[in-house]
Amino acid sequence: MNPQSTVTLHTGNKMPVVGLGTWQLTKDTAGTVEAALKLGYRMIDTSGDYGTQPGIGEGIKRSGSDRGHIDVVTKVEETDDAYEATRKDLNELQLDYADLMLIHRPPEQGAGEDLWRGLMRAKREGLTRDIGVSNYTVELIESLTKAIEEKPVVNQIEWSPFGYSENMLQYCKANNIVVQAYSPLTRTRRLDDDILTEIARRYGKTPAQVLIRWNLQRGTVPLPKANQRKHLKEDLDLFDFEISRADMALLNELNERYSSLGELPYN
Ligand SMILES: NC(=O)c1ccc[n+]([C@@H]2O[C@H](COP(=O)([O-])OP(=O)(O)OC[C@H]3O[C@@H](n4cnc5c(N)ncnc54)[C@H](OP(=O)(O)O)[C@@H]3O)[C@@H](O)[C@H]2O)c1
Repeated sequence: MNPQSTVTLHTGNKMPVVGLGTWQLTKDTAGTVEAALKLGYRMIDTSGDYGTQPGIGEGIKRSGSDRGHIDVVTKVEETDDAYEATRKDLNELQLDYADLMLIHRPPEQGAGEDLWRGLMRAKREGLTRDIGVSNYTVELIESLTKAIEEKPVVNQIEWSPFGYSENMLQYCKANNIVVQAYSPLTRTRRLDDDILTEIARRYGKTPAQVLIRWNLQRGTVPLPKANQRKHLKEDLDLFDFEISRADMALLNELNERYSSLGELPYN
């Protein structure tokens, strides 16, 4: 595995094994994205409501990266007209297409069938290569795919050794849906955990690197956010070590359904 490694989605498209999160990455977004792409990041995650889309578009341009070598993931809100919101996101990003458009969170009623139809139209028209969901439970994914046959390629959810679900992972694996892990660093709140710190010390790595690497070894796709250059670099320096089975088991046991938002949005 290396920064260019990919996972294959059920549509046959490929997605990088790690991406850069950009929530609150509003300080010099363009400069940070440019630096990230030059360091080797191949996927950027954003949303219409992060305020980072214009800077991401600018950063991609400045980096001189080939558009075909970068994945851009963005989202529509549950109250949006999904098709129109996709066009607005692309306009802000200054891009012709996204690689992945997500429903940011399920609406209050139903499973988001209208939103899904809007994203399917965007996909048919070439505005996005793939479509997926975020913050969905297994039950909501089931009812969405029962109503409309097209399955999401991704469920983007809060996910770390401190808060995850075997049940969700098994369901997604069985259905060829990739779990994208948001807040994989617990927004730094568990980086000083004793067991995590001890495991990191064994590999000569930092707790953040162990949290990100845990995802790679479980087949989930982490989206760490970093403003600071040293963090950007560190969070991609993951490919020269492997966490042993025993240490993976110790990390798996840290699960306390921790959520930096208060509650995990799935079982
Ligand atoms: N779909 C959704 O509903 C949803 C919800 C939340 C997040 N997300 C996505 O997931 C991304 C990541 O989640 P997040 O931003 O909530 O939190 P996160 O990635 O868990 O944590 C970000 C924090 O970790 C710090 N950090 C980064 N690398 C570090 C390192 N090597 N050592 C120590 N600290 C480090 C960052 O500091 P600096 O910035 O100072 O470098 C920042 O304070 C978001 O940016 C967003 O793209 C999606």
